[in-house]
Amino acid sequence: TQIASRATAIIDEMKALEGPLLPILHEIQEEFGHVPAETLPIIAKALNISNAEVHGVVTFYHDYRNHPAGRHVLKVCRAEACQSMGGDAIAAQISQALGIGFHETTKDNSVTLEPVYCLGLCACAPAAMLDGEVIGRLDADKIEEIVQEVRS
Ligand code: FES
Repeated sequence: TQIASRATAIIDEMKALEGPLLPILHEIQEEFGHVPAETLPIIAKALNISNAEVHGVVTFYHDYRNHPAGRHVLKVCRAEACQSMGGDAIAAQISQALGIGFHETTKDNSVTLEPVYCLGLCACAPAAMLDGEVIGRLDADKIEEIVQEVRS
């Protein structure tokens, strides 16, 4: 398939790197917006490791997704400083407002909700990032705005 041949090209280009797995996964996600399941065995074979190892790395690192993302990607900080500023309640409100959990995409494909572990915005906790733009001091109003934006 086209995915397989594009993935093979990326792997060939990068497999000589030291510790090639993460850079390869990164590049594949850049290319496809996620790490397609069919690329896992190709990567495993090229690097001479097991499918389970590749799969383990993809699921361990929260930055990789194994399904295509929605039109918007909302990352909500789940790290300590944000948690201490009410991040858990904020995360629960967002998840409820969107009707999805973390690592899920709404049925209309408008938004994917992902956890992130510190956005470097601890001084403005609780924080989130919508399509690459950081949003600090999340509160009910800002959540409302985010929800409006992703639904429009
Ligand atoms: Fe959330 Fe640093 S802990 S931005």
